[in-house]
Amino acid sequence: MSFARITGSGSYLPKRVLSNRDLEAMVDTTAQWIVERTGVRQRHIAAEDESTCDLAEVAVRRALEAAERSPGEIDLIVLGTTTPDKIFPSTACLLQERLGIKNCPAFDVQAVCSGFIYALDIAHRYIKTEGATRALVIGAETFSRIVDWTDRTTCVLFGDGAGAVVLEASDKPGILSCHLHADGQYQSLLHVPDGIYRGCRSQPDTRAYVKMQGGEVFKFAVKAMEQMAHEALSANSMQKHELDWLIPHQANSRIIEAVARKLNLPMEQVVTTVDRHGNTSAASIPLALDEAIRDGRIERGQLLLLEAVGAGFTWGSALLRY
Ligand code: ACO
Repeated sequence: MSFARITGSGSYLPKRVLSNRDLEAMVDTTAQWIVERTGVRQRHIAAEDESTCDLAEVAVRRALEAAERSPGEIDLIVLGTTTPDKIFPSTACLLQERLGIKNCPAFDVQAVCSGFIYALDIAHRYIKTEGATRALVIGAETFSRIVDWTDRTTCVLFGDGAGAVVLEASDKPGILSCHLHADGQYQSLLHVPDGIYRGCRSQPDTRAYVKMQGGEVFKFAVKAMEQMAHEALSANSMQKHELDWLIPHQANSRIIEAVARKLNLPMEQVVTTVDRHGNTSAASIPLALDEAIRDGRIERGQLLLLEAVGAGFTWGSALLRY
């Protein structure tokens, strides 16, 4: 088998919706400012008793159903999250137990908003070189638990959710290449400054909240996403016009539109969910991917570019035939 191919996808959003109007009552902002500067109109927020693993489990069960696979057929679980249920065991192990899967490697990847791309790259390499045949690749977050809901510069941006794919060894083309990057010198531009972490079921320590220099992150994100598109296409001797879909990390519609412009890609070929989901960190790309697969926009055989930028900074892309 020479490829790792997505055979099914699934996603889940918590029931509670927090609108921009709701935020007007919480911080000094306006619904109009939020839409104009970020594109976000609403986001989903996990219930008090809902954890990252809870969200991931629903997304994974939907992905398994779409792939017509049972949990017993899975031999690898890689889960991207910044908001695990506990410091340990990993959320991947908690999920493994929920699904009744015995004895396969299961671990979390911490690359913040690039977490799903990192997880996809790892699973793809396990399938190509280590004999894994069927992997669950997940991005799941309860990011609302590390957001300061009194800080208008960050709280309007984020939301909770989970997305998952089943990635299988295949003779048919799937992932063509993944390209990962990181540079820790940018850590202070986007971080949770205090290491004290109380776990995601209870409220974290008040100092354990996201701090961001939004403008700097914005500029870096646009440049990195443009560069990654060229990197991925040139690694596969392909041209921009061959792309069917761009599925970018959903941080801000202005970032997404700037990248699309630089790639001469009409917005009709860009999957966007940021208006309804906000920034769900590692979950944002698999949520967007699943939505566009399920509503029929993405079709088998099409060329997809997935790309993300997150704290670290980390950044990464995956070019694949669906
Ligand atoms: N409501 C009203 N006014 C606000 C709000 C708000 N919610 N937030 C900030 N403002 C104000 C600021 O205080 C500032 O006021 P001032 O001029 O009086 O000082 C003004 O609006 C402009 O602020 P900027 O920060 O310059 O606004 P900008 O247009 O840059 O938008 C934003 C801010 C939305 C955060 C943007 O910079 C952004 O999206 N950055 C990138 C975020 C990102 O990509 N993250 C990805 C990674 S996420 C991860 O890895 C976890």
